[in-house]
Order: sequence, then structure tokens, then C-alpha cells
Amino acid sequence: MENKRGSFGSKFGVVAAVAGSAVGLGNIWRFPYIAGENGGAVFIIVYLLICLLIAIPVMISEFAIGRHGRKNVMGSMRQVAKGKMWLSLGYLGVFAAVLILSFYSVIAGWTLNFIVESVKGFSGMDVTALTANFNGFVNSNEPIVWTLLFLALTAVIVLCGVEKGIERSSKIMMPMLVLMLLGMSIYSLFLPGFGEAFRFLFKPDFSKMTWDVVLQALGQSFFSMSVGMGTMITYGSYIKDKENLYGVGATVALSDVLIAFLAGVAIFPAVFTFGIAPTSGSELVFLTLPSVFSQIPAGQLLSFVFFVLLFFAAITSAISLLEVPVAYLTEEFNIKRKRAVVMGFVVIGALSVFCTLSLQDGSSLVVGGDSLFDFFDKFTSNIMLPVGGILVSVFVGWFMDKKLRYDQFTNQGQCAVKLYKFLVFLVKFVVPVAISILFISKNLF
Ligand code: PHE
Repeated sequence: MENKRGSFGSKFGVVAAVAGSAVGLGNIWRFPYIAGENGGAVFIIVYLLICLLIAIPVMISEFAIGRHGRKNVMGSMRQVAKGKMWLSLGYLGVFAAVLILSFYSVIAGWTLNFIVESVKGFSGMDVTALTANFNGFVNSNEPIVWTLLFLALTAVIVLCGVEKGIERSSKIMMPMLVLMLLGMSIYSLFLPGFGEAFRFLFKPDFSKMTWDVVLQALGQSFFSMSVGMGTMITYGSYIKDKENLYGVGATVALSDVLIAFLAGVAIFPAVFTFGIAPTSGSELVFLTLPSVFSQIPAGQLLSFVFFVLLFFAAITSAISLLEVPVAYLTEEFNIKRKRAVVMGFVVIGALSVFCTLSLQDGSSLVVGGDSLFDFFDKFTSNIMLPVGGILVSVFVGWFMDKKLRYDQFTNQGQCAVKLYKFLVFLVKFVVPVAISILFISKNLF
């Protein structure tokens, strides 16, 4: 029974599980800080366009490959594609998953620490005190413990299998997280910094538009939707034949974007109210939200609930990341699931410790001027995932069997038929050409 493939039970289950992968730290931690560093509104407009025209078609293409192949990234590619060349997508995916989970676990570890900090309470702490507290934490060895604890929890869930572990936990926690963010956004509307935040988020200053902003938006959209590395191939392999892939893709994308937006609306008014720089980088959310919680009634309880939910959002994504190398090892090398999980834990755990240490002041773990952590973050989102996106789209657009593609995209002509041509146009031309132009321009200008 070791390698029997599970599948997602209900329609809601599919969307919840796929959204569980997509919605995570990418929306709540990464989106605000990348938007903050890249000029706010301009970034958001480009981001939306890219989600719609590039990331969604790639997601549906990945589903199609996975649902037909019914295997891990590598196995599915072997089923649908002739020639070894396309297996590179599989290697790229496994490699990207390992690198992403290595830095992802660090931030997820921070959320665990903040759960405990919330119990102690932030009350009476202003931004200066919170910043000092945070810096003290990052420079201690504590984050290593939290990072490894998070990874260990992820490993345990992945061991328990698809349906039981992933589906059940996603179904309850995701809606709760959305409600909580909604509440926080409403509260933020009444903060004095709201006006400035509104202008920052919704009034574009096109002079801020550069190729780098576009590349960051591309990276963010791929990262946030978990596309370009085969996660959605692996998840697609668990989707039943009767589900409408376009419907699942569009629903997940919409939820993903909305949640990132809610996070932005919840966070930026506080950023401006408490005088935090929007360009603070990866600690942005971890400074801003405690500043809010320290001021409001029942802040301690709300802070606790929020970080618990953020932790759940993180773990449902982390599961999908670990599932990529685990499914690869079990199905390609016939390694027992337990052993594969342990192997993943050891390799990723070691890398994540280096990522944690690289964030300490004066650390020598630097690559090309960035900390190892930032390097992993940027390299995977801005390069590996978009390259994966090119591979997926070129394959599905130009090389995949046409009938097979039609059958997968439309469930043998039963749904999304009118959209089919447009989707194929996006996959064939828009996705690969846009990403290539972006890569070239970014390096030339
Ligand atoms: N999309 C996840 C998030 O937003 C991260 C992720 C990236 C998960 C790639 C799987 C694959 O947090």
C-alpha cells in the first residue's frame, strides 16, 4: 500500500487543498514586503496582469500535465512528453522545492516564535522596542529551533498522506484566516495612516516602473500561486477527472490575489501610522502587526489567533513543497515514504539552518551581496519558477498531444470550451514570449 495514490475527495476539498498550497507566507509575509519595496500601486497593477495572463495559464497547464500523468513531476512528464529534455522540468521542480522550503521554514519558524511571544504579550511595546526585540531574536540561536520544529511538523503531516493530512487541515483553517484578515483590514480603515496607505497601494506612480519591478511582480505571482516548479503538477495528479481545471485554477488564483490584497490593506495603514518604512524588507509584517496588536483591546488574544492561523497557512504550503521531492523519491526510486520524508527533512533542515544563520548581523553566508536567505528567495522566485513557467508553457503549447491537451483543458469538450483557444494562445505565445522578453530586458537595461 506504500505507494497507492490518493485523490482529493470533494470539489471543495480540491480547491481548499490547492488554495492551501497557494495561500501562505507568500500572500501575507512576501506580498506586502515586495510590494513595499517596489513602489506599491505600480507593482500591484503589473502583478494583477501577470497573474491573469501568465500565472493562471501556467497553473492550468500544470494541472493538465499532472492529471493526465497521475504521477509526481518527473513521472508525469515522462507520461506526457517524449524525450528526456522535458524531464528537466522535473529536476528543476524538485530542486526549487528544496530551496524554497529551506528559506520558507525560517519565516514559518518566526510565526511559531510569535505565537509564543503573543502569549507573553506585546503590550506597551512601541516600534523601537519591537524592532529591538525582533533583532535580538534573529541574532540568537532560537530561530534554528523554531525552523527545525516547523520542518519536523511538516514532515509528520506529509507522512500521514494526502487526504487525511492536507485536506482536513486546509478546510478549517483557510476560511478562518480570511475572516481574521478581513477583520484586521476593517480595523485598519480607521487608523490615521489609512489615507497614505491607500495612496501607496492604489495610486500608481508610473515613474517607479522599471524592468526590475516587473520581474519582482512575475516572481511574486509565481511564488504566491505555487507555479513554475511542478507543485501543481503533483497536485493536479490528485484531481479527479470530472473537475473543471479552469474553474479550480481561476478560483484558487482569485482567492490567492484577494488574500494578498487583504494582507496589504491590513498591514499598510499600520505601516504608515507607526512610522515603519514600507521598504523594511522581510521583517515588515513581523514589526507591523505586533505594533497593531500592542495597541488594541484583546490584542494579545487576537495576535495569538493570527499567528496560529498564519502558521497553518504556512504549513499547508510547506506540505505541498515537501510533497514534491517526497513523491519524486517514492515513485522514481521506490523508496519508502517514511525514508523519503526523513531524507527530505535532513537535507532541507541543514539548508534551512544556514538560511537562518545568514540573517544574523555580520554573517558571512552571503551570495552576490545578498544573505543566503535572500539569495534563495530571489533566485527561486525570480529565476527558477519563471524558467519552469517557460518550460511548462512551451511544452503544453507546442509539444503536448493536441487531443490530450483539449481533453484535459475542457474535460472532453464539457467545460471551458469557449476559453480554450484563448488559453492556448496565452500558453503558446504570451507566457513564453513575455517571460523571455522580461529576462532579456532586465539584463540589458
Ligand atoms: N505559494 C506558497 C505561498 O504563497 C509558497 C509556495 C511556492 C508553495 C511554491 C509551493 C510552491 O506561501
